[in-house]
Amino acid sequence: MQDIDRLGAELRANIEAADSLEALDAARVRALGRKGAITSLMKELGALEPEERRDAGAALNALKDGIAAAVEDRRAALRDRALADRLADRGVDVTLPVRDEARGRVHPVSQTIDEIVTIFADMGFAVAEGPDIEDDFHNFTALNIPPEHPARQMHDTFYLEAERDGAPLLLRTHTSPVQIRHMRAASPPYRIIAPGRTFRRDSDMTHTPMFHQVEGLAIGRDIHMGHLKGCLEEFARVMFENDDLRMRFRPSYFPFTEPSAEVDIGCSRRDGELRIGEGDDWLEILGCGMVHPNVLENVGLDPDEWQGFAFGMGIDRIAMLKYGIPDLRAFFECDLRWLRHYGFAPFDVPTLAGGLAR
Ligand code: DAH
Repeated sequence: MQDIDRLGAELRANIEAADSLEALDAARVRALGRKGAITSLMKELGALEPEERRDAGAALNALKDGIAAAVEDRRAALRDRALADRLADRGVDVTLPVRDEARGRVHPVSQTIDEIVTIFADMGFAVAEGPDIEDDFHNFTALNIPPEHPARQMHDTFYLEAERDGAPLLLRTHTSPVQIRHMRAASPPYRIIAPGRTFRRDSDMTHTPMFHQVEGLAIGRDIHMGHLKGCLEEFARVMFENDDLRMRFRPSYFPFTEPSAEVDIGCSRRDGELRIGEGDDWLEILGCGMVHPNVLENVGLDPDEWQGFAFGMGIDRIAMLKYGIPDLRAFFECDLRWLRHYGFAPFDVPTLAGGLAR
């Protein structure tokens, strides 16, 4: 019995001294494992007289339970300590003041993209994406712009030195190639919008070599131009927060749509100031039309079965108009003072219910 008490004290000391989960496990095995101290004593019980065996057996069983409980207590203590250490390590002092220079702003282009996505999401459009570096097929050929087509000249394309399928890679000149990628990858019906960067060799007060567009595409079995009109009217009215916004669809030409139209919204230009939604002047905001049968065929859709509309719109100018920002070039100069002035607070997330911005 003396032995058992001494053994118990020794095993408990080992357990208390264990400083890690690994060390604790080793101490547990030394006590309770198959070749552990308690297990070995248990094996010797058989050699004792019945009287002695009963007492020693009960004592050993009590020791075994006590040691198992001590191991669990120690394990819990080690875990608590590890958690406390981790929390202390990553501690944040929430009482510290926010540093003024650390306050971020959302760029007006990002804000405008969020607004556009919010409006179209409400009409069932999903967001699609494509690469900035495109190939000739997706940017031109599949969109019904074959190699000698004059529309290629209008695009002032940046070409790369690398080639794919014998034609140079390029920086996409519009977001329309995302239409092609989506139609080739998914099966209709679908509605998507694709906001993103676009590139053209052009630079002045109103053009930057990198700019932003959003592409829209809806394909179904019986989509017609009325759907296109309704969809774009809804968009413009919510975007410019004006239920009476005047719009007109002017016949136009794009290789990838037939018929094609350009869309103008009502505005006034007085004393050099442009105001949306008043006056009797017009401002062009986007191009659109019914997807050309050749484009549908190029992506493997039967034009007798599937049809739909597409549109493309410049985002930067919409942002300038909506938020009264005069110079496009300042958009991409990363001037912090400009961003503080025209940027949005990170929590100004646009929602239809809460008003699109501010
Ligand atoms: N891709 C055209 C551009 O960059 C814009 C456009 C016009 C896109 C008509 C369309 C469309 O999808 O139907 O000028």
